[in-house]
Amino acid sequence: MSTDSSRKLPHVTTRRLLEMKEQGEKIAMLTAYDYTTARILDRSGIDVVLVGDSASNVFSGHDTTLPITIEEMIYHTKAVVRGVQAETSRAMVVIDMPFMSYQLSSEEALRNAGQIMKDNECDAVKLEGGKVIVDTVKRITDVGIPVMGHLGLTPQSIYKFGSYKVRAREKQEAEELLRDARLLEEAGAFALVLEKIPADLAAEVTRLVSIPTIGIGAGMACDGQVLVINDMLGLNTEFHPRFVRRYADLDNVIRDAVTRYVDDVKKKQFPSEKESY
Ligand code: KIV
Repeated sequence: MSTDSSRKLPHVTTRRLLEMKEQGEKIAMLTAYDYTTARILDRSGIDVVLVGDSASNVFSGHDTTLPITIEEMIYHTKAVVRGVQAETSRAMVVIDMPFMSYQLSSEEALRNAGQIMKDNECDAVKLEGGKVIVDTVKRITDVGIPVMGHLGLTPQSIYKFGSYKVRAREKQEAEELLRDARLLEEAGAFALVLEKIPADLAAEVTRLVSIPTIGIGAGMACDGQVLVINDMLGLNTEFHPRFVRRYADLDNVIRDAVTRYVDDVKKKQFPSEKESY
């Protein structure tokens, strides 16, 4: 049932993303965790906004994505959906299912995915992993919830990997990744994030599957690209991986503004008479 407050359908749908792949039109995706940023992204023509569990790192200051909870993800997603709705409602909003919200059983995963979709009125969920989550992806997509997959460097498995190095350089891991991509497509996933894998392998996956691939550190052959917003805006100065292109230096911009504000307050130059009532 649709009410006045319900989410309007986004202009960018799973079907549209498929068309974009078929027509060779690249998909632009960025993360967002709050209302204001989501508004700016939607106004700027982004295709997909990902409420990434990277919020655990860049929003909350944890070392990994593992600590973030469903409740916290829902809080961020509500704000992001409100932001996109406040603008053109063009972008698709995808939410990361947090660590341990989908790994225990397909039933629990479905219950959590359902709660996430109902509470947020977002458009899709994203799950990390290959063969081991294929039945879960099928269970979730079978009831009509769109699922985006995520292969390669899957940050929720960081303790298993032991490092954030490029994945699937070795033949066996590359073959497993190709198999997983095909299995996820068969299970009903509508798109795949490929994180930090060799560009040649990402190109092979992109040719192999008919659903769009969205790369982060996976070269230019992917059907789309995604970055963490804090990284591309230069808010995260300690993180310099090769795949991040900095489109702004907001760390400097903000520090300069705050320093000038502090200075003005200390020197009694703010507020002025004009800025008072
Ligand atoms: O959580 C996140 O931001 C992500 C992207 C890196 C794809 O999963």
